[in-house]
Amino acid sequence: MTRTIPKVELHCHIEGAALPDLVRRLAARYHIDVGGLFDADGGYRWHDFTSFLEAYDRAASVFKTAEDFADLTETYLVASALEGVIYTEVFISPDHARRSGIAYADYLGGISEGMRRAEESHGIVGRIIPLIERHFGPEAAIKAAKTAVHTMDERVVGFGMAGDERLYEVTDFAPAFAVAAEAGLKLTCHAGEVCGAESVRATLDAIPVRRIGHGVRAIEDADLMRRLADEEIVLEVCPGSNVALGVYAGWPRHPIVRLRDAGIKVTISSDDPPFFHTTVGRDYRMVQDTFTLSDREMLAFTQTAIDAAFCDETVKTRLR
Ligand code: HPA
Ligand code: ZN
Repeated sequence: MTRTIPKVELHCHIEGAALPDLVRRLAARYHIDVGGLFDADGGYRWHDFTSFLEAYDRAASVFKTAEDFADLTETYLVASALEGVIYTEVFISPDHARRSGIAYADYLGGISEGMRRAEESHGIVGRIIPLIERHFGPEAAIKAAKTAVHTMDERVVGFGMAGDERLYEVTDFAPAFAVAAEAGLKLTCHAGEVCGAESVRATLDAIPVRRIGHGVRAIEDADLMRRLADEEIVLEVCPGSNVALGVYAGWPRHPIVRLRDAGIKVTISSDDPPFFHTTVGRDYRMVQDTFTLSDREMLAFTQTAIDAAFCDETVKTRLR
């Protein structure tokens, strides 16, 4: 029974965890036009990676106050806890906060407060990873990195980059990552999702990352697979996201088990669950059912994620 397997999530974008009903409610409260954002069934409307990113940016724009973010975060973590999640790292975005008109300190404070509430009521532990957004460009990235390191709290443990992998060179963002690394943050970066293995290799060459967001398209390059295994780079694999976005034409084609069997450290996360009609519990369940994995094999994904989490060792000891 997958429900009873403890789960650890390392890759979820906080605004991407917002249920459509909540976005509709806040849009009405703040008189924000969300025409075209939803389909006839009330879910988010998008049809490819570009329109997904646009829908994401629009949904993010309805969150305005610290309490909006506290509520969103508490709701997401409590729902995760009810699926057996014991620890979650959420991605937050200084750029989306700025675009929404909320001060970064209030944004971070609200998210941190939501985590405190969820831990108090359900025991789930949350940590925070500020991200830069590749499609907003290298100049915005440097500013966002400075914002992120200027205003920290004890839950901020890492730094990363999401957004449109097809734009710019990853080296353009090295200065932003350097700001974060200097502040002691551990690094992750989206790569090998929309673009192929060369994007993962370029990221490893340019940025001292410990983890790669997605990274699944490393499967297209045997040399790179060996490098990932040798360097013990951890992949934040989001299979439901990959299938929904058409990176793979169905669950049976997903390479998660082949990556694992090549000795690469692989974990399971949900990315932007309502956008992809998934949850982390469903992602675990689909992996287990599609590839007929044992409970012990599923637990190994969780143990890999605990080892790869950016929190400190005392928290990991409690999770193990
Ligand atoms: N890829 C890139 N950027 C993102 C994603 C993703 O899967 N989700 C939210 N921003
Ligand atoms: Zn992501």
